[in-house]
Amino acid sequence: MSTYTPTDPKKVTTKRIKDMMLAGEKIAMITSYDYTMASLVDQAGVDIILVGDSASNVMQGNATTLPITVDDMIVYARTVARAAKRAMVVVDMPFGSYQGDPIEAQRNAVRIMRETGADGVKLEGGREMRGAIEMILRAGIPVMGHLGLTPQSINKFGTYATRAQDEAEALRLIADAKVLDEAGCFAIVLEKIPAQLAAKVSQSVSVPTIGIGAGPACAGQVLVAHDMLGLNSAFKPKFLRVYNNLGEQIIDSVGNYIVDVKSGDFPNEHEQY
Ligand code: KIV
Repeated sequence: MSTYTPTDPKKVTTKRIKDMMLAGEKIAMITSYDYTMASLVDQAGVDIILVGDSASNVMQGNATTLPITVDDMIVYARTVARAAKRAMVVVDMPFGSYQGDPIEAQRNAVRIMRETGADGVKLEGGREMRGAIEMILRAGIPVMGHLGLTPQSINKFGTYATRAQDEAEALRLIADAKVLDEAGCFAIVLEKIPAQLAAKVSQSVSVPTIGIGAGPACAGQVLVAHDMLGLNSAFKPKFLRVYNNLGEQIIDSVGNYIVDVKSGDFPNEHEQY
């Protein structure tokens, strides 16, 4: 039973996301990559489920988001879309699937939508992505932008440190956000930038900003489910609030199971036919 009951049980759409921002209702977004987790976060009442390319780290054990493919994302997203009854499902376009030819970007976005049943896509980058965003929108596919610490560019940045701490990068980020807004993005993720800058960006655009490590002024917040549930105790950035210790609970539970099997206590007389 969720501690939260959504004000409206109907399926969340891009229009609802904008209306929430206009009404001052904060937008709650969280990642999922599989049917069971997506079903649980949907029942909890989250507004948007992001099938993030963080699946590359969380589900595949890669050091970065770069190795994950469109085919991989489609497998994860299909299971999530099947589970989500209320939440809008947004799928990350993986590294290399949209940065080149806008036509190819559209083709990959169409594949993701057609083969998963998701409700929109997300891609990283600013003004240089305008062509891809417009081409994807031309196919009627909602696009969420992503600025600040964009993990697909980690090799260019060389660090996961907070972005846009100097004036030049901050001004560029504000200008990029305006471009994404003009191009038609329905929302923009702001990752790991100073809270004051995120507040400025949020005031400069007409669409909701969704923050991760970007302070409280954003129209919504996003966290990686595995991180906030304590399934990944090695990852402890300052911006993360950990709501549970499921990792410890799983190790503990499985340890108890092993002890019961080894001792012959499981199965007992009630656990057999
Ligand atoms: O891939 C992901 O999980 C993301 C969020 C961190 C915003 O892009």
